[in-house]
Amino acid sequence: MQNVFAGKKIVIGVTGSIAAFKVAGWVSDLAKEEALVSVVMTPSATKFIAPLTFAALSGNDVSTEMFSAAKEDTMAHISLGREADIVLIAPATANTIAKLANGFADDLLTTTVLATRAGVLVCPAMNSRMYSHPATRQNIVKLKELGYTVIDPACGMMACKEEGDGRLPEWEEVKEYLAKSLSPQDLQGQRILVTAGPTREPLDPARFLSNRSSGKMGYALARSAFRRGGAVTLVSGPSTLSCPAGVNLVKVQTAVEMYDAVLDHARHCSVVIKAAAVADYRPEKMYEHKVKKEHIDTRLILERNPDILLELGKRKKAGQLLVGFAAESKNLRQEGTKKLHNKNLDLIAVNDISVDRTGFEAETNQVLLISASGAESLPYTSKLHTADLIWDRVVSLLPASAEKAEQG
Ligand code: PMT
Repeated sequence: MQNVFAGKKIVIGVTGSIAAFKVAGWVSDLAKEEALVSVVMTPSATKFIAPLTFAALSGNDVSTEMFSAAKEDTMAHISLGREADIVLIAPATANTIAKLANGFADDLLTTTVLATRAGVLVCPAMNSRMYSHPATRQNIVKLKELGYTVIDPACGMMACKEEGDGRLPEWEEVKEYLAKSLSPQDLQGQRILVTAGPTREPLDPARFLSNRSSGKMGYALARSAFRRGGAVTLVSGPSTLSCPAGVNLVKVQTAVEMYDAVLDHARHCSVVIKAAAVADYRPEKMYEHKVKKEHIDTRLILERNPDILLELGKRKKAGQLLVGFAAESKNLRQEGTKKLHNKNLDLIAVNDISVDRTGFEAETNQVLLISASGAESLPYTSKLHTADLIWDRVVSLLPASAEKAEQG
């Protein structure tokens, strides 16, 4: 599942909102991802942005008319919906939402939606008063009952100079929901805990001990798990990355904070993956005020941090899967196998950190996966693809659903 969008037929319905221009960038990005994008515009959408823009960006004709004399267009209202892998309506006005909620089919877009059996994603965008009106609220409830995914609008200043809910959500978020709709839902029903990033062990208000972890590997695992239907909590040390859409982010700083957060959440989870690079030691003393350089003791006294994964291994419930990571610079298989056994893990991903393009900070990775049944070297690839391959392995290890870890 290296690129979920490649070759997928995505119908994008654009309706008459000022936010329509933003969707041009979305179409362009999907075309770069090699998706086959067909844009359907309502007549009022064409007042905000020209069909030619979408045609140029998607590389396909744009449909605006329900009835066309052109032979290849006579059944557009059926064929577009029938062939789609997913239908995305963005921006969706209050008017189109009302029509969809009530099964109207008076233009090409609403007809296409009725004719499709693919998933439908709706991104409402409108003035916040219109969005909060009981009629719109009710119609959105109806859309959800019909099985459509409605992505909540963002909050902020709108074109009408009012502030509130109603802005078109950001593309990064919508793209994740699209990816989810196009992915196998083999983690559906699983509550998943992922850890990521470094921990920071403070010395004084200005200084800390830490490591090079950027969080990229852990965030990729969280993103991939959400796409595959998991309910994901991400416990992260300091990182500049944004939280992936649909993921519950718990931010921590120190190893002790991570210990508390992880042990609290792990009780409810069927799978725990620990990609975080937890500091093994912390300064024995944390100074309240910045220590002047002339007063700094050049010998730093350290004390042990708790080993979170070791503790999870001791507390592992029947049916719960525990996956560790190991950052190693030599004897990968030997060191990984030792950690697999010592920490009572089901699987461990061993990272070679002696190479720049794998491990810390890199966009790419190559890990050795070790379980009780042996070792397998995954290919050198992006961290997102590495995450997918790790989830493939986790899925193969999951107990039958009846035996899932007792959650709660
Ligand atoms: O964040 P990136 O820049 O993308 O880099 C990714 C990564 C290299 C950090 C990641 O792929 C990785 O290898 N993470 C594990 C790093 C690590 O701390 O390895 P370790 O061998 O020291 O620890 C083994 C396991 O025990 C890890 O799962 C770790 O989370 C866990 N551990 C370690 C110490 C501790 N006190 N508590 C723990 O839970």
